[in-house]
Amino acid sequence: MEEKPEPLERIRSLFNEISPQFDNWVNTLQGKVYGYVTWEHLKKYLPLDKNSLILDAGGGTGRWSLPLAKMGYSVILCDISQGMLKQAENKIHKEGLSDKVKIQEEDLTNLSYADQMFDFVLCEDGPISISDSQKVVRELVRVLKKKGKIWASVLGRYSLALTEVAKDPEKALKHLSLSDVRPKPPPCANSPPPETFIIYDQSSSPGADDCLIDAYYPMETCL
Ligand SMILES: C[S@@+](CC[C@H](N)C(=O)[O-])C[C@H]1O[C@@H](n2cnc3c(N)ncnc32)[C@H](O)[C@@H]1O
Repeated sequence: MEEKPEPLERIRSLFNEISPQFDNWVNTLQGKVYGYVTWEHLKKYLPLDKNSLILDAGGGTGRWSLPLAKMGYSVILCDISQGMLKQAENKIHKEGLSDKVKIQEEDLTNLSYADQMFDFVLCEDGPISISDSQKVVRELVRVLKKKGKIWASVLGRYSLALTEVAKDPEKALKHLSLSDVRPKPPPCANSPPPETFIIYDQSSSPGADDCLIDAYYPMETCL
């Protein structure tokens, strides 16, 4: 029987495979609208001090690292997929931002960074949902400076229902009625105070009251 690869290996190979096309979606009308509303929400939470160090966790092809670097921040973009990082590297080099953005291969469930290293942590478009949510959250909190902020989007019930609706409307409705979700992880020893963690469902409008997530979704639903 063929052996199933480890979850992290599946994530890595999935994103390596789609990395050359990833920015195609970003450049569609839907991708641009998503990018616009996301940026409008995100920018309100960015540190005032432009000398701040930002971690773009699971930063992929650098969709957010580039504008952040252009604003003057120093950014570390880390990701598990070399394919995604290669795309990011090409764009960063082309834009002359290599001194502002460092690219590193890292696993978000086990980061090599020191405690309290970053002023701000960004984790956009699902890395928390794709990998082991609790381990990722624990690591993001660990590397964040006291008084820092983590800004993240996850696959919540809206995203899941949207991806399901064309295939199976009943299942989509079930997701919306919350009968099929995994509850939020319980607070752990180093749980951040609520104001530290800005987290929303990536398919709803950032900033709307009802976009705050009420559940994380298991990895199997995303891959
Ligand atoms: C949908 S992409 C989003 C990329 C980027 N944040 C953006 O908004 O364009 C999700 C990214 O999370 C990365 N990722 C998922 N699990 C990860 C893990 N455990 N460690 C590091 N990166 C991970 C994937 O490789 C992929 O690049």
